[in-house]
Amino acid sequence: MPNFPELRLRRLRKNEALRSLVRENHVDVGDLIYPIFVVEGKGIKKEIELMPGVFHFSVDKLKAEIEDLTRLHVPAVILFGVVNEKDEVGSGAYHPKGVIQQAIRAIKKNAPDMLVVTDVCLCEYTSHGHCGVICDGYVDNDKTLPLLAKMALSHVIAGADIVAPSDMMDGRVKAIRDALDIHGFDTTPILAYSAKYASAFYGPFREAAGSIPQFGDRKSYQMDPPNAREAMREIEQDIREGADIVMVKPALSYLDVIRLARDKFDYPLAAYNVSGEYAMVKAAAKMGWVDEKRVIFEILGSIKRAGADIIITYHAKQVAEWLSLVK
Ligand code: PBG
Repeated sequence: MPNFPELRLRRLRKNEALRSLVRENHVDVGDLIYPIFVVEGKGIKKEIELMPGVFHFSVDKLKAEIEDLTRLHVPAVILFGVVNEKDEVGSGAYHPKGVIQQAIRAIKKNAPDMLVVTDVCLCEYTSHGHCGVICDGYVDNDKTLPLLAKMALSHVIAGADIVAPSDMMDGRVKAIRDALDIHGFDTTPILAYSAKYASAFYGPFREAAGSIPQFGDRKSYQMDPPNAREAMREIEQDIREGADIVMVKPALSYLDVIRLARDKFDYPLAAYNVSGEYAMVKAAAKMGWVDEKRVIFEILGSIKRAGADIIITYHAKQVAEWLSLVK
């Protein structure tokens, strides 16, 4: 093995062409999923205060946005619904004419090649803001499962390409897989939010989606942030139940968990670069404290380097624009 002065690692960093040749990881637009918030009503495209550059769209305003994303070669969107009427059991989540079911139909009609992923979780639709049904003040796991299955099925009937359960109930992947298979949707993949932590980084999202829990917190179902081994058990459980893609969420404080999952499981791995992570970058950039573009590529690059194949990120559209300018 040579050593200095024969060995000089700086030789391969001399210019951009050399650096490009030996670059180990790349942020590719084809790996990105762009989150979209859909609201009830008409003619609405309104910027979300805590997430500059991200908007609330009514269904009729989605067409232009999806056209932009198609032009930019963003392959997929993930949809979140924001509703006015809520109840104890989140009925709006699985109504055949719910806001998400309408959005899916509209997108698939205008842009059949755009992959539509849907978030399967009750929190945006329940009056109490929890991800499942409440019994005696506790989120009841088994009573929630049929509702999640019903919700996922309604998305797939409307035309969703992938369903993504984010509720963290035990057994939800199996419940959804069974419901889809019984109804002939055995070719629809499940992207499971497998290792989803009870994170403070979801703050801006909950404001945007109106899904702040009205009492307590999500710690009895989402994971405890200091745990990593438990994340492997969550992923293993979801794989056993039939998940096709597994996910770690959030991304940045959990890069070690992404790496562990990459090394342990030969399954496609997604990471969710969440709202709080996005908001911090936007705030610092607005203050002029960081170079926004470089910071974003560094962040997304770190998620790829940790081992994620797929990144869900609010930066996707902007990144796609930057990448299209380079070409
Ligand atoms: C629904 C859901 C949440 C996020 C994605 N799906 C919020 C939560 O669990 O409270 C967070 C996404 C983000 O912060 O960007 N359960």
